[in-house]
Amino acid sequence: MRKIALILSSICLAISAQAKDYAISTPNSSLIITAKEGKPLYFRYYGSRAEIKDIYSAGRMLKYNAYPAFGTNCNMPYASLVKQHNGDNAVKFVVEKVEQNENNGLSKLTVSLRDVAHPSLLVKVNYSAYSDCDIIKMNTEYINEGKKPVVLQKYMSSVLPIQSDNCVLLQLEGCHGNECNERVAPLTEGVHTISTQCGSRPALYQNASFMLGLDGRIDETNCPVVAGTLLWMGNFHFEFHNTHIAGAPTLFMGGINPAASDYTLASKKSLTTPEMVFTYTNNGKGEATRTLHRWARKHQLIDGTKEREILLNSWEGVHFDISETSMTDMCRDIAKLGGELFVVDDGWFGPKYPRNNGKTSLGDWGVSPQKLPNGIQPLIDLAHSNGIKFGIWIEPEMVNSKSELYEKHPDWVLRHPDFEPTYGRGGTQLLLDLTNPKVQDFVFGVVDDLLTKYPDIYYLKWDNNMCMQNAYSQYLPTELQSNLSVDFTLALEKILKRIRAKYPKVVIQLCSSGGGRLNYGYMPYFQEMWTSDQTDAFHRIYIQWGALNFYPANMLGAHVGSAFSKYTQRFIPIKFRFDVASMCRLGMEMVPAKLNDGEREYAKRAFAEYKTIRPLVQQGDLYRLVSPHEGTKNYASLMYVNEAKDKAVLFAYRLFTWRRANHIIIRAQGLKENAMYRIREVAPEYANKPAKINGKVISGRVLMQEGIVLPELLATQNSTEPLSDVRGVNDYRSIVLELTEVK
Ligand code: DGJ
Repeated sequence: MRKIALILSSICLAISAQAKDYAISTPNSSLIITAKEGKPLYFRYYGSRAEIKDIYSAGRMLKYNAYPAFGTNCNMPYASLVKQHNGDNAVKFVVEKVEQNENNGLSKLTVSLRDVAHPSLLVKVNYSAYSDCDIIKMNTEYINEGKKPVVLQKYMSSVLPIQSDNCVLLQLEGCHGNECNERVAPLTEGVHTISTQCGSRPALYQNASFMLGLDGRIDETNCPVVAGTLLWMGNFHFEFHNTHIAGAPTLFMGGINPAASDYTLASKKSLTTPEMVFTYTNNGKGEATRTLHRWARKHQLIDGTKEREILLNSWEGVHFDISETSMTDMCRDIAKLGGELFVVDDGWFGPKYPRNNGKTSLGDWGVSPQKLPNGIQPLIDLAHSNGIKFGIWIEPEMVNSKSELYEKHPDWVLRHPDFEPTYGRGGTQLLLDLTNPKVQDFVFGVVDDLLTKYPDIYYLKWDNNMCMQNAYSQYLPTELQSNLSVDFTLALEKILKRIRAKYPKVVIQLCSSGGGRLNYGYMPYFQEMWTSDQTDAFHRIYIQWGALNFYPANMLGAHVGSAFSKYTQRFIPIKFRFDVASMCRLGMEMVPAKLNDGEREYAKRAFAEYKTIRPLVQQGDLYRLVSPHEGTKNYASLMYVNEAKDKAVLFAYRLFTWRRANHIIIRAQGLKENAMYRIREVAPEYANKPAKINGKVISGRVLMQEGIVLPELLATQNSTEPLSDVRGVNDYRSIVLELTEVK
């Protein structure tokens, strides 16, 4: 029966000669376009779910070219610019046909647009809507049916006209060690862009995600919001037009960055542009975040609903100083603390040139006999005998000029043959040319060899520490050099698909000097991403706060570093460090042997406690309660609530002692008003001295409307038995509370 229904629903509808409105809907949102054969395609509406006639009656129907091209209305922004072989770059797209189908909970509208002047150019504009969450996707497909190549000079994935001239934009920006800063500002008149040309590390400075508050504000719970994110592992480009000439709407366009990226599309070839994912809500940015997270966990992130392990990563503890003794000690110690996975980071490889710093050995993925004379297997066995799993670091897309790989294949790197390349880390690092099929085999082989030789490797950390600084392929012909950035990204995708086809289960963390690759496009291949090299817990609150706007907690690695942060020169006590890391996927990044007795006891307890709240953190719905950016407050707070709303965990952090605060009142969200919740402090500083609120039973209504006061966040630390050697830590007070419905 179900089979028949599916078959029936995927029958395509041919277009009529009359203008017709087409709508696709999610449970709470609708998108409407109007199509008529031989006419431009019009975008009409994206907003809360509604009947077409109501949208007309309310005057909410826009009429805006849904995929404007250069050459027809040149005073307007354009999403498409295509140059024919003879130089003609004017295009007029008109509707040829509309196909509408429904498959596995996804309703899809595909509109074929043909260029009137050059009919061999076809662009398919795709819109799809999910039936189980409020997500709509858009992308395009360029098809060259002609005999000669054409050059795509602008080929956006999506155009979204928005009926508001008073938008507030939330975006993420930053740099290494300071990724994902949340910035909120009105979209003033003119054109605002967010884009990157870092190539292999597209999220290093800007993130391909945004939220727009449509009524002159963007708040957590109560305003219309459109949020969007691009699924692309390469250079991206967003334009926000707020101009009078563009007509009424604010116009968003997003897709591949066309800068220095003219794409030659050979005869009979096609290019599918990356998908742009949108959500619309009238319930503020909190709801937008939750929808994106749910969609990511269910539809985009590999193993999105599987729990992630607590790990120890060797990097900040020993850096390149990998030895059998140091690794053995760390592995045993994390097992004793209750960790579940030990990861050997950079510095284990280089059979000819041992990797002692960033200057050598990338490309030579054999074990360094100087570092690990007995190889990796004894470490894997040790991990297993201690009841934990084993992982190892690689950076397979890179090479150092001092390496056996570079000696053999100097032509495998991106660089212009006629001048010295720009080197990356260590003054010797270069990016391999992934467009070269031999290089693709090599990169696949790095993973394949390791996992074949050591089938018990459970986890790989895949790092990438260089942008595409030398944008020249020694493999591509000269006339196709401007295809590099797109072809490189597609080649990476091909390699990752090949790896996943053979190794669907191995857990792979994506890292790019921290969060340089934080993008939804990587999610089908990497279970998690390293959020930032910044492990100073105070700074991390801001980074995680920013990242969590778009990315779910279970994919954001957050590690407890040592008390002293080498980045910020700050000392932070252990409880605060644990409480910050526990808001995402918890791990550790230090030498556990350096913990004093009190800290060790605390770490053991905190790891055990994290396991009890893990399902909430890693699968719950996120509610932001107090933003660290809120100037008038001196604390930050968020919570995760399970689907049944009978369990939640609330995190609160005091940020500054110097800001006045007599009461810290925190109002919960997402609970059941009429339910009663028992409060339990998770991992209190001292096991026998929980917070005053511990054990109290409070109604959902009071928790949400009146809020709770947490004097512990105000108290100064006068303890005679501090957990760490750190003094003067009164800024860094925090509390974690578990809420369980009393039934
Ligand atoms: C950069 C990463 O962000 C670090 O965590 C570490 O893996 C180093 N690379 C190793 O070189």
